[in-house]
Amino acid sequence: MADSPIVELQGLCAGYGEIQVLWGIDIAVRRGEITALIGSNGAGKTTLMRALSGLIPTQGGIYFADDKDVTGDRAAQILARGIVHVPEGRRLFGAMSVEDNLLMGAYSRKVSRGELNRDLDRVYGTFPKLCDRRHQAAATLSGGEQQMCAIGRGLMSAPRLLMIDELSLGLSPLLVEQLVAALRALNAEGMSILLVEQDVITALDLCHSAFIMDMGRIVRHGEGAQLLADPIIRDAYLGVLET
Ligand SMILES: Nc1ncnc2c1ncn2[C@@H]1O[C@H](COP(=O)(O)OP(=O)(O)OP(=O)(O)O)[C@@H](O)[C@H]1O
Ligand SMILES: [Mg+2]
Repeated sequence: MADSPIVELQGLCAGYGEIQVLWGIDIAVRRGEITALIGSNGAGKTTLMRALSGLIPTQGGIYFADDKDVTGDRAAQILARGIVHVPEGRRLFGAMSVEDNLLMGAYSRKVSRGELNRDLDRVYGTFPKLCDRRHQAAATLSGGEQQMCAIGRGLMSAPRLLMIDELSLGLSPLLVEQLVAALRALNAEGMSILLVEQDVITALDLCHSAFIMDMGRIVRHGEGAQLLADPIIRDAYLGVLET
C-alpha cells in the first residue's frame, strides 16, 4: 500500500459531452511525491485534473484511488478521499473574507470548530500574509495572495493529494519562489502534489517526476531532472533558452 500510487488511470478517456479530449491516459501518481503535468495550451491538462476530481464523467478506462476502483465516483466522493483540486483561475468568493473562503474548503468535512481552528492556523503558518488579511474581502487581494488563498482553501479540505492547476500564472518570480517553497514544505510533511505549471523549468525542478501531454495523450514520462536534460524536451519546451 505504501508504495502503491495514490491515484492511477488506465486508458482513461474523457471530455465534454460529445467531445472527447483525453485519449487513453495511463498515469500513476506516486504517493508522497510531487508530480508535474506539462503540455502546451489545449493539451488537456485541466481536463485531466477535472477527470481526477470527478468534475467531468469518464468516457472509458479505469480510475483507481488508493487501489480502489473509483471510476464514475462523483466529485464529493473523490473530495472525501482527500483528492483536492485547486482550479485554474483560483475561483475565490470575492465578496467573502479570506477566512470565510478558507473555511469554504472545509465545508463538507465533519470536524469540530477546534480542529478547524487548528487547520486555519496551519494555513496561516504556511501563508502568513493570509493571516494579516484574514478579514479582508478576497477580491481585494493581490494575484499572489489570491493564489495563496486558493491553495489555503484546498489545504482546508484536508488533502492527501493536492492538485494545483496553473500554480504560477500571472505571478512575479518572487511570489512563485515563495509558493514553491511552501509546496516543498507541504510535500516534506508527506503530502502528495500534482501540479500543472506553464513554466517548465520551475515545474521540472520542483517535481520528482513529470508527465508530458500533447493533444489529449501522455507522450512522455520521467524524472524531473532527467526530462530537464532531455534534448527533445529542451527543444520542444525550452527552445527559447537555447538561442
Ligand atoms: N467546457 C469545455 N467544453 C468543450 N471543450 C472544452 C471545454 N474545456 C476545454 N475544452 C477543450 O478541451 C481541450 C483541452 O483543454 P484543457 O483546458 O484541458 O487544456 P489545458 O492543457 O489545460 O490548456 P491550457 O494550458 O491553455 O490551460 C481544448 O481543445 C479545449 O478547447
Ligand atoms: Mg488548463
